[in-house]
Amino acid sequence: MNILIIGNGGREHALAWKVKQSKLCKKLYVAPGNAGTATTAENVDIKTTDFERLATFCLSNKVDMIIVGPEEPLVKGIYDFFKSNPKTSNIHVIGPSQEAAQLEGSKAFAKAFMDRNKIPTAAYREFDHTNYEEGVEYIRNHALPIVLKADGLAAGKGVLICNNPIEALAEFELMIRQSKFGDASKRVVVEEFLSGIEMSVFAVTDGVNYVLLPEAKDYKRIGVGDSGLNTGGMGAVSPVPFADDVFLNKIITRIVEPTITGLKNENLDYKGIVFIGIIKVGDDPFVIEYNCRLGDPETECILPRVETDLVEIFSAVALQKVNELKIKISKDAAATVVAVSGGYPGTYETGKIIKGLDDTSFEGTMIFHSGTKNEGKDVVTNGGRVLAVTSFGDTIIDAAEQSVYMLEQIYFDDIYFRDDIGFEFK
Ligand code: AMP
Ligand code: GLY
Repeated sequence: MNILIIGNGGREHALAWKVKQSKLCKKLYVAPGNAGTATTAENVDIKTTDFERLATFCLSNKVDMIIVGPEEPLVKGIYDFFKSNPKTSNIHVIGPSQEAAQLEGSKAFAKAFMDRNKIPTAAYREFDHTNYEEGVEYIRNHALPIVLKADGLAAGKGVLICNNPIEALAEFELMIRQSKFGDASKRVVVEEFLSGIEMSVFAVTDGVNYVLLPEAKDYKRIGVGDSGLNTGGMGAVSPVPFADDVFLNKIITRIVEPTITGLKNENLDYKGIVFIGIIKVGDDPFVIEYNCRLGDPETECILPRVETDLVEIFSAVALQKVNELKIKISKDAAATVVAVSGGYPGTYETGKIIKGLDDTSFEGTMIFHSGTKNEGKDVVTNGGRVLAVTSFGDTIIDAAEQSVYMLEQIYFDDIYFRDDIGFEFK
């Protein structure tokens, strides 16, 4: 079949790399893609939210399946757009409907869903301008730290953890009354702070059945030892050493199963990935957030461990036959290290020539492109996160060392990467 992947990051390069290995894939396109996807697939210069042009492209190129990488097109309804037009309704869109994508697109929706389905999560209340004063009282009387979340998508910046009530009240005011995050913060979820270690779980679902992909842990902070500012993700490891069978079973029975049953019982049309951010509090799992897509850089770390054909998996999703799937996962550990432009997550320059990409081919290591583009004969940097290098190893530490070694062979002006991914598992 002909397949279109939507997005332009490391996640989409990893998806393209994996899809390309499938015998079921005839022609592979990525819109808009990057310099890495250009080596695996044909890039198509269409924006991820330009549904009209994407549909025209799919019709003229006989695309059978669309795999949606980022959240924005999902939250804006790409699934429904294709389903509602008789000309495109038989194209399989891998991703949830707009209604179901609110699990990521609206924190209040996600919290209410968890409440209805008795899924463990931090206690919360939601506020907007209609009950603003009540919110002020609630925050004043709340234990610290306290977590404020903009309801809508805020490019990963909408969560604030406040350590004193004055800061919390000021932020609350900025969010609701001064639209700190635009419309996204017209409504705010105020929740209890949970203390623990985090990990991510990925359920592939057809809305009724599910299978799990490998779990992962990502490293969001810019600096070694998890210090400094939050980023889109500086690395990831899989599997997660503290997630033993007992803990994973708790996640499955208390969180994954009620989530999938909830989707089904509430008639939420969901044919895609439910990414569940988990926090381990004591010995128990709680949901920090849902995302309606794969994670980045987790995808670059987990897909190399999936031995099953990804197109077979997504076909089962489209045909509601996920119950017939058996997923094979490699026993090897994987670690991904992300190279970023100096200055990221603040301001940084782009257009730097990347050297050493061609002479770095090692068994068990994969270089995925995040923010890159072709310029003449060169591959140049084109974003904050530039490359995601994944290696296999007997242990996470071996794998991470190999990824760091590989990145040491690559150069661009002001390159930076963390050399301690997986550090707490040493
Ligand atoms: P989110 O945008 O929902 O992923 O939140 C971003 C990050 O904020 C999470 O990965 C957590 O590290 C942190 N966070 C969110 N909610 C809570 C909470 N209730 N307690 C502690 N940390 C939280
Ligand atoms: N790595 C976290 C995310 O993709 O949201």
